[in-house]
Amino acid sequence: MTRPIVIAVDGPAASGKGTLSRRLATQYGLRHLDTGLSYRAVAQALLASGQPLDDEALAVEAAGAVDFTVFDPSVLSAHAVGEAASRVSVFPPVRRILVDKQRAFAMDPPGAVLDGRDIGTVVCPDADVKLYVTASPAVRAGRRHREILRLGGQADYAAILADIERRDARDMGRADSPLRPADDAHLLDTSQMSIEAAFLAACAIIDEALAARN
Ligand code: CDP
Repeated sequence: MTRPIVIAVDGPAASGKGTLSRRLATQYGLRHLDTGLSYRAVAQALLASGQPLDDEALAVEAAGAVDFTVFDPSVLSAHAVGEAASRVSVFPPVRRILVDKQRAFAMDPPGAVLDGRDIGTVVCPDADVKLYVTASPAVRAGRRHREILRLGGQADYAAILADIERRDARDMGRADSPLRPADDAHLLDTSQMSIEAAFLAACAIIDEALAARN
């Protein structure tokens, strides 16, 4: 049987990696997993039951109950849940539980596109292709701001920029699985790129890697 195809897409908050990953999954006939949702699900479970975010044992219990098949993105995508997710994601046992589930998802044929912070470095170090998608903090804050307004919400650009910078510092500075490009990742800086241009650039990289694999 042919080995599953795994495409790892990492990058900071609001870098456009989610949109890009969904399009890549469709293009290559693969399944898609937004691994951020698994950390968000842990955070949401604690928030919903009024429990603290800094209690490792409670977070571990919530991680054990995470089920990818019942995610509700409309609840999990809230800005505050992302902030809470970056707090529970620092606990190593929480990460181990979720990483095991993410690996199992990736290895199910025909394979998958996974997006997150540590896919190329920890979850799938043998991925066929690794992309690291980034953009300047100002560009990312602008995108997130417009997205919230488009969905009818209220948002303050300066507050979003401050959140993004704080989240970058927490994600890049943590001891376990910090956000960083894998040594063999292809960097895609989308500060000056449309979604379409980023998609085409990613396809060119993936086509070359898959041709070499066959
Ligand atoms: O969509 P956005 O970039 O705002 O966030 P996300 O991808 O949903 O991730 C939320 C938080 O989960 C991040 O800030 C990380 O702290 C954590 N996370 C992680 O540690 N490892 C991953 N593979 C994915 C997310």
